[in-house]
Amino acid sequence: MLDPLSWGARLASALVYPRTLDDFVGLVAPLRSRRAHHAEVVLVRRETYDTVTLVLRPGPHFPAHRAGQHTALTLEIDGVRRTRVFSIASAEPRAGERHRTIELTIRARPSGLVTPRLTGRDARALREGDIVELGAPRGDFVLGTPVPDRLLLVSGGSGITPVMAMLRTLVARRHRGEVVFLTWAKSPRDTLFRAELDAIAKAAPLTCPGLRIAVVHGPMSEGDLAARVPDLASWEVFACGPSGMLDVVRADLRKHGDLTKLHTEQFSAPTRPPAPEGEGGEVTFARSGKTAEGRGPILPMAEGAGLRPKHGCRIGICHTCVCRKVSGTTRDTATGALSTDGDVDIRICTSEPVGPVVVDL
Ligand code: FES
Repeated sequence: MLDPLSWGARLASALVYPRTLDDFVGLVAPLRSRRAHHAEVVLVRRETYDTVTLVLRPGPHFPAHRAGQHTALTLEIDGVRRTRVFSIASAEPRAGERHRTIELTIRARPSGLVTPRLTGRDARALREGDIVELGAPRGDFVLGTPVPDRLLLVSGGSGITPVMAMLRTLVARRHRGEVVFLTWAKSPRDTLFRAELDAIAKAAPLTCPGLRIAVVHGPMSEGDLAARVPDLASWEVFACGPSGMLDVVRADLRKHGDLTKLHTEQFSAPTRPPAPEGEGGEVTFARSGKTAEGRGPILPMAEGAGLRPKHGCRIGICHTCVCRKVSGTTRDTATGALSTDGDVDIRICTSEPVGPVVVDL
């Protein structure tokens, strides 16, 4: 069964964590909680045969997002809380404005545990009025200030969502710079936001005179960017899509553009640099009194020791798994950076022990 966030789950959460006034606020009026952000589903809109958009109304304490950022969506599926990270596809609010609604456009991953439930046509999908939990918006894949004069937004497949947020933001602000929006989709039936893109392109002479939009079907090939965007080196490039497509973008920019102007977003596990031989260590989970020894991320070590730490993406994006490291050295598996300080927060899904480590878990 797919349950947005049942009363029982919220009660269990309130009993597991230290009981503060806010925990009980979260139980009876989740949208008003400050400790965990919640949102009401106000609309479920089908975009394509395998994609839906959830229009969500977050509570008053949900921070304003910047176009390109993502949020972690938590639901209860068959009695288990599951968290997944999605880009926010809607325009960012104006300075000082509060969110009225945000939109997440979600494509089914055939082998996924969560997205097929959200996008399916069956009775288990989310409905208007359901309450879901959201993480605060995060991510550095955002337009700079001021917005660059020449902006190239490139996407493939469902990677269109964060750059769609950028496009919607620029259109809402009637941006006057040059913007080229290029998106690759497998076929017409896989193309997201087609009608809206056509409408934006049609209105561009009045709203954003420097905007050009192209939708391309089929895979992206080397040379495509240079062929469509003359003087490639003069554009700031924001690209989101599958890793193969991003490799093509990098190859094009290496040859014809400026790689230092490339910003990318990709929702897949980072490539791990091999750990130096002999690393690993013993992890002591201070609160539960358990220990585990080995190499690799602390999250599976904790699970192997019988603990159930909160987690979502398991690839360092959603921050759901953040725990206090009391002491010891850990290595970030994505960057290879060492953390030697005690009393700091670490993401246990991407932190591995280097020698003895104590974690508050
Ligand atoms: S589980 Fe998402 S950052 Fe660790």
